[in-house]
Amino acid sequence: MLAIGSDHAGYELKCEVKKFLDGLGVEYIDCGCNGERADYPDIAEKTCEKIKSGECDKGILICGTGIGISISANKIKGIRAALCQDYYTAKYTRLHNDANVLCMGGRVIGAGTAEEIVRVFLSTEFEGGRHAARVDKMMALENSFVCNLHCSTSQLDHTLVLKIAKHSSDYLMRRV
Ligand code: RB5
Repeated sequence: MLAIGSDHAGYELKCEVKKFLDGLGVEYIDCGCNGERADYPDIAEKTCEKIKSGECDKGILICGTGIGISISANKIKGIRAALCQDYYTAKYTRLHNDANVLCMGGRVIGAGTAEEIVRVFLSTEFEGGRHAARVDKMMALENSFVCNLHCSTSQLDHTLVLKIAKHSSDYLMRRV
């Protein structure tokens, strides 16, 4: 199952991609928007949630440039989102990065290019081997101490202080 989402700027291309997926017989869940104005971080979050929960194994996200929605998706744990504008990058991000979310720019590429990109993204398997260790290292970055706290100074309250203390002790005990 695939999760798909777009903001208003990516909506038209999303409709084209959905037609293409229908033709391929690929099932998907559309996480919005439906043409109304939408903020790309909200759509990225809603769509990637389907992957985090295990309901979907891959996702497609579209905004105007593909940039805002890919940056947003890459802040979410477990997500490897790749902004692709051509066949080659779509193929290699599957082979080498095991990307689980494809991002595209609705104001950048046309429906024909998007179809080629989607087709190769969905049909290419991760190569594994030497790339697996690199993907593991990449994912370990999101478990790093600072990233994992998701904190801002405004949240610097006793809960956060306790969290830091717990993490520090886990770290010293080599549990993380
Ligand atoms: C919306 O106008 C636009 O900023 C958005 O779709 C995207 O291009 C952001 O990166």
